[in-house]
Amino acid sequence: VDVQISLDGSGDLAAKIYRQLHDAVLDGRLRPGERLPPTRELAQRLAVSRNTVAAAYERLVAEGFLVGHVGAGTFVCDESLHRSRSRARHAPGGQDVQARPLWADLPAQPPIRPVAPRYNFRAGIPDGRLFPLEAWRRLISHELRPAAIASTEYLEPAGHPGLRAAIARYVGVSRAVRTGADDVLVTHGAQQAIDLVGRVLVEPGSRVAVEEPGYPPVRRLFRSLGARVVGVPVDAEGLDVAAIPKGIKLVYVTPSHQFPLGTPMSLARRSALLAWAERNRAVIVEDDYDSEFRFSDRPLEPLQSLDRAGRVIYVGSFSKTLLPTLRLGFVVAPASLQPALLSAKQLSDWHGDPTTQGALARFIDDGLLARHIRKATKAYAARHERIVAGLTGELREWLRLVPAAAGLHVCARLAPSATVDVAAALRHARQDGMVAHDLAGFCAEPPGQSGIMLGFGAIQLDDIVAGLGVLARGIRAAVVG
Ligand SMILES: Cc1ncc(COP(=O)(O)O)c(C=O)c1O
Repeated sequence: VDVQISLDGSGDLAAKIYRQLHDAVLDGRLRPGERLPPTRELAQRLAVSRNTVAAAYERLVAEGFLVGHVGAGTFVCDESLHRSRSRARHAPGGQDVQARPLWADLPAQPPIRPVAPRYNFRAGIPDGRLFPLEAWRRLISHELRPAAIASTEYLEPAGHPGLRAAIARYVGVSRAVRTGADDVLVTHGAQQAIDLVGRVLVEPGSRVAVEEPGYPPVRRLFRSLGARVVGVPVDAEGLDVAAIPKGIKLVYVTPSHQFPLGTPMSLARRSALLAWAERNRAVIVEDDYDSEFRFSDRPLEPLQSLDRAGRVIYVGSFSKTLLPTLRLGFVVAPASLQPALLSAKQLSDWHGDPTTQGALARFIDDGLLARHIRKATKAYAARHERIVAGLTGELREWLRLVPAAAGLHVCARLAPSATVDVAAALRHARQDGMVAHDLAGFCAEPPGQSGIMLGFGAIQLDDIVAGLGVLARGIRAAVVG
């Protein structure tokens, strides 16, 4: 669209562009889905630098008014419509209904771009092309037979009994998790599993420990429950157990494939963490979100199977092995916690969807999950290898690979001698269609770590070299000093 922007008068040009676009979105002159002029074009039209326009766009993207689709342009977000409507509904005199103050610091994350970038190194997503769609369709259709929906009673909060049994067998064999079907509670993803654990264990105002750097959604979740979240540093062996502050009763860890660094927790640290939990009568939440994909060494046993004191809660997810949109995960908790967890699940959403859960039960029992993981592991191993080759080759001047042999992402720290503005490097790369993550985004406490996280769930093998080439150009353009 041809937006009218006036730069009359003195003052910050980017702020003026920002303000006028902001108002145009809010009063509906720019409608959701509408495409904004490319930064270059608008900059030419207004006779300002492209960076000035980009700064205004970036601020509007960060605030959720616009969304950028790499390669396609910048668009007005649907959410801004909600905002303008909600503003229009604001009560006069500032009497609007307010959420509890802590929610002001926990805004919903901006929507993920529906248009995939050309070189998509986003972490945390599997390759939808590998998903065994035909088998899944058949199983879903079987679950939807008339007899299955004849009863319209609400179901057990713990989930489909067949799925609980299938998960217990599956994690028993593949991950040596010690459990029976009765101890498995099926959830809407790992996120809900951790939410339920938090609801039954976290006293508002108490402190919980998480890894630093770590997984932001879990940090935010604990904060939303009123906890004070303390970051505990992660080194080459995993969480620094000796650095857990006194008085902590719950610690959340990703020992199989630390998020984001990828480092597995050493056996010595696992033992130390279990001993710490036993000594302090504390609980360990073990998030084993993507370790099904392993590329070399034998996996270390989960904390859950090493635990002799019943202090570990094991959380799993099918978001990486199948699809994140299925919203399927589970929690294996000590028997003493089961009643409260079941109640929390029931109070939260009664139970999950039996059609999907029934299909997954059959999928596991028929050996299709194991087969799919074997096949996907081959594809992901090849991508992992190619990224590692790139990081230890052309990019070694600036980046140092953090060794890891599992999951769907790797990290690289900035080399000690490199003086690169990582955020600027990634901005440059994004303009050329390459998207990866800034490690600093996973650090809650300064000084953050400097580096890059590269996911390989979405990127195709043949695009990796070119994608890393774009990153290298971005880095070269962002060398400082
Ligand atoms: C550390 C971590 N835990 C859990 C998950 C999966 O969450 P969910 O099962 O809710 O999709 C992810 C996904 O990116 C993750 O990175």
